[in-house]
Amino acid sequence: MTSRAGGCLPPAPPEGIFETEKGWVMDDAAPVTVDLKAEYESSGVREILDELDRELIGLAPVKERIRETAALLLVDRARRQMGLAHETPTLHMSFTGNPGTGKTTVALKMAGLLHRLGYVRKGHLVSVTRDDLVGQYIGHTAPKTKEVLKKAMGGVLFIDEAYYLYKPDNERDYGQEAIEILLQVMENNRDDLVVIMAGYADRMDRFFAANPGFRSRIAHHIEFPDYSDEELERISAAMLAGQGYVMDAGGRTAMTEYVRLRREQPHFANARSIRNALDRARLRQANRLFSGAGVVDAKTLSTITEADIRASRVFSGGLDIDGSRRKDLP
Ligand SMILES: Nc1ncnc2c1ncn2[C@@H]1O[C@H](COP(=O)(O)OP(=O)(O)O)[C@@H](O)[C@H]1O
Ligand SMILES: [Mg+2]
Repeated sequence: MTSRAGGCLPPAPPEGIFETEKGWVMDDAAPVTVDLKAEYESSGVREILDELDRELIGLAPVKERIRETAALLLVDRARRQMGLAHETPTLHMSFTGNPGTGKTTVALKMAGLLHRLGYVRKGHLVSVTRDDLVGQYIGHTAPKTKEVLKKAMGGVLFIDEAYYLYKPDNERDYGQEAIEILLQVMENNRDDLVVIMAGYADRMDRFFAANPGFRSRIAHHIEFPDYSDEELERISAAMLAGQGYVMDAGGRTAMTEYVRLRREQPHFANARSIRNALDRARLRQANRLFSGAGVVDAKTLSTITEADIRASRVFSGGLDIDGSRRKDLP
């Protein structure tokens, strides 16, 4: 507790406010009031939050956290405009969750949000993994990491599976060098660069426990839950609609079953597995149309049917991996 608890000392005036014989007055240069609702509209923050709501299915807790963060940043900006605060708040974040739960997609929106609020100059997102930061030979890591940081300045650096930077079993791992540079830049350039570290929750926890420097520099931790079957079905319909396709009734039933089966198989990656399944369904649809009747109408060209989904190996207990084995991996 502070000395104010005793009730004898008057609170010190906040910065930017002066005491005169008429009482406290604001610094002349600073505005006297801020219309937060008007700022919310004119900054474009509302637009981004609306997009987030519209474009992303489910993710209620994530959307809530983003709204809270946006409110915090709007208020912080207003406080700085009024001279009530001077320091840039710490904006580095961690996004934890399984593959395909929307972390990268939400990071892009976050970059837009930070840009609209003036926390970063450009608002672009640079997405990297360990290999982009760490070299294979002595002397290669620092220039690599610095090059990435240079590209990301003025925007958001998204480090996917950040924990691979740290290899505790190898004392001389070059990852350590990248970690040290990152920690420095996260501290010194926080008015122009926001770092988002993403990955599995449990591995990220261990990474932060072993590297407390990151934990103390990261102010916002957002958890991305797995999607429910019903959400994945809605995501499949939305993805297809975005590409100008629909599923007929049989296709939708097959998709419901697909989601249930796919979840139980290895390398399940939430919405990314759905995107991959739909890519393959469109391929099958094209082959079906091509090998069938020569003349087709717009509706036929745009409809995914039961057969296009059910031809997947997932229905016969196999993996739906036509081609690359790593397709569903992050
Ligand atoms: N809630 C959602 N609604 C619609 N599409 C989504 C949703 N979440 C993820 N996706 C889509 O799924 C794919 C994988 O998402 P991504 O953001 O890359 O996940 P992560 O980074 O967590 O692995 C992307 O194509 C993305 O557009
Ligand atoms: Mg990703």
